[in-house]
Amino acid sequence: MTGIDVARIRADFPILKRTVRDGKPLIYLDSAATSQKPVEVLDAERTFYETSNAAAHRGAHQLAEEATAAYEASRARVGGFVGVEAENIIFTKNASESLNLAAYAFSNATALARWGTPVDPRFELNPGNSVVVTEMEHHANLIPWQEVCAKTGASLRWLPLTDSGRLDLADLDDLIDTSTKVVSVVHQSNILGTINPVAEIMARAHAVGAVGVVDACQSIPHMPVDVRALGADLVAWGGHKMLGPTGIGLLYGTSEILQAMPPFLTGGSMIATVEMERSTYAAAPQKFEAGVPMVAQAVGLGAAVAYLEKLGMAEVAAHEQELTAYSLMALSGIPGVRIIGPTETVDRGSAISFVVEGIHPHDVGQVLDNMGIAVRVGHHCAWPTCRRFGVPATTRISPYIYNDQRDIDALVEAIAHAQHFFKVAS
Ligand code: ALA
Repeated sequence: MTGIDVARIRADFPILKRTVRDGKPLIYLDSAATSQKPVEVLDAERTFYETSNAAAHRGAHQLAEEATAAYEASRARVGGFVGVEAENIIFTKNASESLNLAAYAFSNATALARWGTPVDPRFELNPGNSVVVTEMEHHANLIPWQEVCAKTGASLRWLPLTDSGRLDLADLDDLIDTSTKVVSVVHQSNILGTINPVAEIMARAHAVGAVGVVDACQSIPHMPVDVRALGADLVAWGGHKMLGPTGIGLLYGTSEILQAMPPFLTGGSMIATVEMERSTYAAAPQKFEAGVPMVAQAVGLGAAVAYLEKLGMAEVAAHEQELTAYSLMALSGIPGVRIIGPTETVDRGSAISFVVEGIHPHDVGQVLDNMGIAVRVGHHCAWPTCRRFGVPATTRISPYIYNDQRDIDALVEAIAHAQHFFKVAS
């Protein structure tokens, strides 16, 4: 037993009280796509709009001051949650934007260097250079790097996977070599659930002088993460998978790297001086936050962080470990079900993908949906990973703090129902 009281937590999430598909209680097992939001987060956003709404970092009136203070308080709270200073946290629209911000630093620096603007050479990519990712990246940490390579002539490499869904690090030192300028890897896979030894990979990246990036979308919401201990220069994640609103993402950067990186989006708020021909830029984090920021979303995210801190991330992780062990055991016990990814709890999170022999994942998803169970089906924005395991798609469950063993029991019953239904139907 952990200190997580699921019944009490569920009472904080209004959406979990609704029914779906003709009165079935909602069993939400799709938190890797997006988590549900507690009433504290909804209230925080609403209160902000009702009392202090104004554009942050603009204007000298009282509301503008309050909005700026609320926005910056949330930055400090998020920084504290992952063990860093506020100035090392950049707010973006989502994790994909955070990773694009990182990737564009390289293509922008390369383009600027071509026209004679001095740039930090770490960000310049040319033919002969390499970018290293893994075969288990979701598209947000793959396609931005493919684009950078296409624009600069650098080549993309990837760390392959073992049959059990772990990274195969046998050739780590060959794949990350002196040609490598950036290594960007996922901490916890959204499709396999695997937790990767990112600190070891970042150490190798730094040994060859490469910039190290970690995608922590699926880890920071689920376990205590000290981002400095990951050993990366940049760490990206999103707010909406950790009880926060949609429309807000995060990028941690070391002070040194944020200073060296060219900006991504440009415009108001990110400048120091502006003349007609040229401009100079503010220090981070403002350098990376052009335009009126998403203040209400930041306030909502601050409330989400407070909610998770109250529960304690060690308790959250322990609860998920227990539920993962139960889910793995339950799913492995169903004849015809194959888990795609690690089948033991060590270095593994709660997202579990599986296929049911003889039934397409979309059909499995439809039967589950008819029984009130929300899961994700498809390639989970990790198409190459599906290819690696020879499946077109999977069914994925991704439980969180508001799920318990009864939800998994209902899932098992629903899979049996799907198997029965399709055998009857065929
Ligand atoms: N990457 C998110 C997921 O796994 C959207 O569902």
